[in-house]
Amino acid sequence: MLQTATAHLGAAIKMVDLDRQEAVMRDDIRQAIDGVLAHKCFVNGPEVRDLETALAERLGHGWHAIGCANGTDALQLMLRAGGIGAGSCVALPSLTFAATAEAVRICGAEPVFVDIDRQTGTLCPTSLTRAFKAASDGHLPPISAVLPVDLFAIPADHGAIREIATRHGALHFVDAAHSYGGISAEGPCGTQGFASALSFYPSKALGCYGDGGAVLTADPENEMRVRAIANHGVLANTGEHRIVGTNSRLDSIQAAILLVKLRHFDAEIAARQRIAQIYIEALGNHCVVPEVPAGARPVWSYFAIHHRNRDALMEHLSGQGISSVAYYRRTLDLQPAFAHEACVPGGLPETRQFSETLLCLPIDPYLDDDELDRIIRAIRTFKG
Ligand SMILES: Cc1ncc(COP(=O)(O)O)c(C=O)c1O
Repeated sequence: MLQTATAHLGAAIKMVDLDRQEAVMRDDIRQAIDGVLAHKCFVNGPEVRDLETALAERLGHGWHAIGCANGTDALQLMLRAGGIGAGSCVALPSLTFAATAEAVRICGAEPVFVDIDRQTGTLCPTSLTRAFKAASDGHLPPISAVLPVDLFAIPADHGAIREIATRHGALHFVDAAHSYGGISAEGPCGTQGFASALSFYPSKALGCYGDGGAVLTADPENEMRVRAIANHGVLANTGEHRIVGTNSRLDSIQAAILLVKLRHFDAEIAARQRIAQIYIEALGNHCVVPEVPAGARPVWSYFAIHHRNRDALMEHLSGQGISSVAYYRRTLDLQPAFAHEACVPGGLPETRQFSETLLCLPIDPYLDDDELDRIIRAIRTFKG
């Protein structure tokens, strides 16, 4: 019988191994789903409230979490609740998932792409300042909000971004789909802006078994607005449809699954942080490893490295049964849907360079030491 090219090298190593995680949690997850089947409050059941409380408790006093249907909706809901809509312009990076820009367009606003910082891959404060200057000179529309992304779990420079946004009277939102569970120099990721959006897509560090998302905010009135928009514009105490909302509710089964996963979340984060540390120490001389901002402890939902011969390295890894992904290979400003959007003067040179050399390695918390050794050995022996 023919053997596959990789058979002698060991089993394939996936980016994320949901089988292993499920094996650990299977009984508790089945029980949690059975609990929902028993009470049958499939929408807005007690699990949704419990999850919102548990998510908010991780952020500190005064924070609220509002569950919703997915991360894309979380972005839209937070923008809409913050008053962003037709006539608004939102500054954001182009090196992100399409959802970040989609949400801006769907709520009626216009995106303007800003360059990234070459060390962290996150929104560059200098480029942002250039965008505000271009707006005040009339070369770009007035910018009413800034939407940085904590890309691959690395927190953006929110202190600097907030200062610039505030100085120009703009709101500071955060796409924290990659970073919830991590810590930035300013506190838990997701608490740096007026509101943040989370995604519970299955492969995220905290993922459900379908679609799910949440908005985080410390402003009680904003919390009410997000809740109302997510639930057909109904304000909880009145039953009135005060505004035109939508249906973006997190369902009780997904919340029940997430509550089980949250019980394991800290142990999984510790495992991811251990793997990231090993990668950083072992690979620093062979590729560019992530630069962690001072005081940050990322959740490492992704582990992004750079190599000048990225595609050849990915092929080399694949030949040894090791998965890797070059996320955002074609950044949003180059995608047909967004190619016509406004861009900061001077363009996006750092974005371009970053995306050409970027690849993400497996960083599953259930990766074992032999697999980790295999990945490291494969990268160290790559002659590219
Ligand atoms: C940075 C970022 N923002 C937003 C989203 C959208 O989340 P969802 O897929 O839950 O709609 C994703 C999903 O991958 C993402 O990576």
